[in-house]
Amino acid sequence: MAIQIQVNGKTHSVDTPPQTPLLYALRNDCDVNSAKYGCGAGQCGACTVIINGSAIRSCITPISAIKGNVTTLEDYQNDPVLKALNKSFIAEQAAQCGFCIAGMMMSAKGLLDKNKNPSDAQIKSALNGNLCRCGTYSRILKAVKSAAKELA
Ligand code: FES
Ligand code: FES
Repeated sequence: MAIQIQVNGKTHSVDTPPQTPLLYALRNDCDVNSAKYGCGAGQCGACTVIINGSAIRSCITPISAIKGNVTTLEDYQNDPVLKALNKSFIAEQAAQCGFCIAGMMMSAKGLLDKNKNPSDAQIKSALNGNLCRCGTYSRILKAVKSAAKELA
C-alpha cells in the first residue's frame, strides 16, 4: 500500500511496507540523497533529518511513523538556518570526506531553530550523537558558531 509523506514541502507517494526506514524511502523513492546510511542503528547521525522541529535518525524511524514535513539539506535554499549553515561550513572548510556533514548540519539546525545564541557546550551537546570519522569536529564547531553569529 502506498504511504504518503511530505518532504521539503512536496508530497511523495511511496509504495513500501510501513516498517521501511524513512532513510530508505528518502533515498530510493524521493530523490533525496543528502541523508546518508552510516550505521543503520541510530548511532552515528549520518541519516539525521528534521521532523516537526526535532532532529531525528531516519535510519530507525519507520515511514509509517512520519507525521508532518520532513526537512532535509536539499531544502537549504528555502531555509535561512540551513542557508547560513551551508555558507559557514564551506567558509570554515568543515568537511573532509563530507559523509557526516549533512547529518551534522541537520542536528545544528535542530539546535539553532530553538537557540540562536548557543554556547560551545550547547553546540557540542546537540552534535554529540553525530560522528565524524575524519575528525573535523573543531572546524564543525567553528562553522556552527559562525552560522549562529550570522543568524543572531
Ligand atoms: Fe542513522 Fe547511523 S545511519 S544513525
Ligand atoms: Fe568525513 Fe566527517 S568529514 S566523516
